[in-house]
Parts: sequence; C-alpha cells; structure tokens
Amino acid sequence: MPNTISTMSFSILARFNCPRARRGHSVRSDQLLARGTRLSCQVRKMPHVRIKPTNSYRCKDASCTHLSLKAPFLRVQSSLLASSPFFPKAKVENNKSRLPSFLHISDYEESQIDLILERATEVKGFLRAGDRSFRPFKGRTLCMIFTKPSLRTRVSFETGFHLLGGHAIYLGPDDIGLGGREETRDIARVLSRYNDIIMARTFAHQEVLDLAEYGTVPVVNGLTDFNHPCQIMADALTIKEAFGSVKGKKIVYVGDGNNIVHSWLELAAVYPIHFICCCPAGYEPDKDLLLRAQSAGFSSVEVRNDPLNAVRGADVIYGDVWASMNAGQKEEGESRYKAFEGFQINSKLMAAAGPQCRFMHCLPAERGLECTDEVMEASYSLVFEEAENRMHAQNAIMLELLGH
Ligand code: CP
Ligand code: NVA
Repeated sequence: MPNTISTMSFSILARFNCPRARRGHSVRSDQLLARGTRLSCQVRKMPHVRIKPTNSYRCKDASCTHLSLKAPFLRVQSSLLASSPFFPKAKVENNKSRLPSFLHISDYEESQIDLILERATEVKGFLRAGDRSFRPFKGRTLCMIFTKPSLRTRVSFETGFHLLGGHAIYLGPDDIGLGGREETRDIARVLSRYNDIIMARTFAHQEVLDLAEYGTVPVVNGLTDFNHPCQIMADALTIKEAFGSVKGKKIVYVGDGNNIVHSWLELAAVYPIHFICCCPAGYEPDKDLLLRAQSAGFSSVEVRNDPLNAVRGADVIYGDVWASMNAGQKEEGESRYKAFEGFQINSKLMAAAGPQCRFMHCLPAERGLECTDEVMEASYSLVFEEAENRMHAQNAIMLELLGH
C-alpha cells in the first residue's frame, strides 16, 4: 500500500455511507486504513489531505445511515487506492474552506485527546531541555482577543507561540470592541485575512462560536462565561504527569458549578474519568451538559453538596474562585460568598480525601476564600505545574489545528 503522506491539512466534513453505522458506533481510521480504504474521488483531488491513523469517527445521524463528523484532525492519506466496502460513498465537503477550531473538549474524541496530551509531553520535553530548534510556527501569526483580564492565558499563548517560532498579537478589551465597535462576524473575517489562528477570551460563549463560524482560520477558546477547554486540557496533562494516566481518576471539584466545571463535564462526556462537582445548592453546573456527560457512557459524573464525604478517596481536589469574571458575579460580594461556607478547600478537606490526594486550582486563587494558603503551598499542591502546562497543552492544540 502506498504510504505517501503530505504535510498540509484542513478541516473537512466527511460523510460516509456506512451500512454498519448506528448511533454512537465509532470507527477508527486505522481500521479504515487497514482495510485499504480509498475515500472518494473528491478526496483524491486534494492530494495534500491525509488521515491520521488514530482518528476515530462517530455517527451523529439519528437515522444512522451515515457516518458523519466534523473532523478536527482529519487528514486524508491521498494515495490509498482500494475502494472500501465499508465506506463506499465517502464524500467530502469543504465549501467554506474552514479550518477546525478548539471550542469545547467534547468536540473531540478520546483518541484525539490522548494525541494532544502525548504531543504536549513531547514538545514540553524540547522546551524544558532548552531546545529551541523546533519552530513549526515560523512565519505564522496568532491573534489573541481578550475582553476579560488574564495572566496565564495571555502569557502562555503568547510565549508558547513565540517559542515555536511564531508571532502573537494581543488585542485587549479596549482595542477592537468585539461586538460593539464592529460585529463579531466582520472581525472574524478580517482577522482571518491576516492571521493563521485566533484565540479568544470573551464573556458570551456565542462570540467565540461566531468567530469560529465566520472566520476561516482555527479559533481556540481561551475561556468564556460557559467553558474553559484549554484549562482542562492542561489539567489533564498535569494529572497524567502526576498519576501516569487521567483515565478513571477521581476528580472532585469543590466550589461553584462554573465554566471550569463545564469543561470538566465536556471531558467526562468523551473521556473516562470519575468527576464530582461538589457545590452549594443553587450553584450547580448547566443541566443539559451535566446530563450529556452522565449519559455519554464514558464517565461516572455526580453533583453533590457534601464536601467531606464527596472527597473520600479522591485523586484530585480541584478548586476555582467562588465568583467568576462573568458579568455581575464579583459584585454580588458577601451574599454570594456566604453560600460557599463549608466549601473551602483546606487541610481538613485534603485529609478527608486521603494521602494520595493532590490539590489543583486553575488560578487565579483568592487565598483565604475558596482555598487556604496551606493547601496552595503544600507539597501535594500541583497548581504551578498546572499553570505551566497551560502553555504545553495549548502548544499541542495549536500544532494539531495548524496541521503539524
Ligand atoms: N487559569 C486562567 O485561565 O488564568 P488567567 O485568567 O490568568 O488567564
Ligand atoms: N471561573 C473563573 C476561571 C478563571 C480562569 C472565571 O471565569 O473567572
């Protein structure tokens, strides 16, 4: 079988007529390659497209006569010549020439998440060793839009992109007036003309969705009121480093059922973990997303209100601020904080979990509120490894999105 693989990649929506497909049936492209499958002639007309052998595709059509996906990592190995009994009428749609984005972890599959984590470890190894010769982003630009403050996201994206040879541009809250001075859909199209990739941190989740919808370059979600996928990819990397694997780990989040929890739920929907959100009544995460994570069949997912019991046997206790940057939360002040009494992560709570348990926090932390100085500084605290891993996880995400 010819094995020529070219270097470029781009987003395609692939539809396969698949007699064996049924809802949730997943087929890995290594099976597809092993069968010597040739996709359609549309694919063959695009010799720069290839399929990575570990990608998998899931049926999303309820009637289930098609296997269909928007494949973030789909690269078609153009030289496969045998026609497939498995996918006889493969079809590729690329009419918007849009590259894939990273908006929700649940847009990805377990194998793709594993690939990103492996890549992050590999590139982290180079950078930690002082090797600056890996420069895949040379000649490329990343445009970063922020409508909220940031330390980690801004610096880790900018530094990470620079270290891999590229140039990053920062647009702060007063620079472009996203959705005010100019419509998001226009900004998306203009920025796509100058840049290879966009990262955005916004209030409304819809703004990031619109950037991805109207832009023609990949968009990376750097936090919205709804979710924070890059953070949880960095957290997964940190847990993998600490425990050898993320799979099956018991992660107990204690605090507000916020954007961080939503991205944990997104992960739980596609990746096997035991996740508990332990929050005061009235501060639960989004019901639909919770249901999706619980019914996806990958993970055990619970919402509880009893921190001391919930953390027993936890591998990780995870914290975040009790008031997020979402409009209005910080201003609620005392009335909001009162609801969280008993939800502080302190050494008593860590002890209740057991000696194996590590403390994680996405930062920034409000020491003395949701967590104590003691747990931040303890030897079981992973918070600064976690912060560093933002850069490595994001580098790996951008490498994949840009086809490296
Ligand atoms: N964790 C995180 O996203 O930090 P910043 O808000 O400082 O970017
Ligand atoms: N939930 C926090 C996360 C900060 C990284 C916020 O949105 O402010």
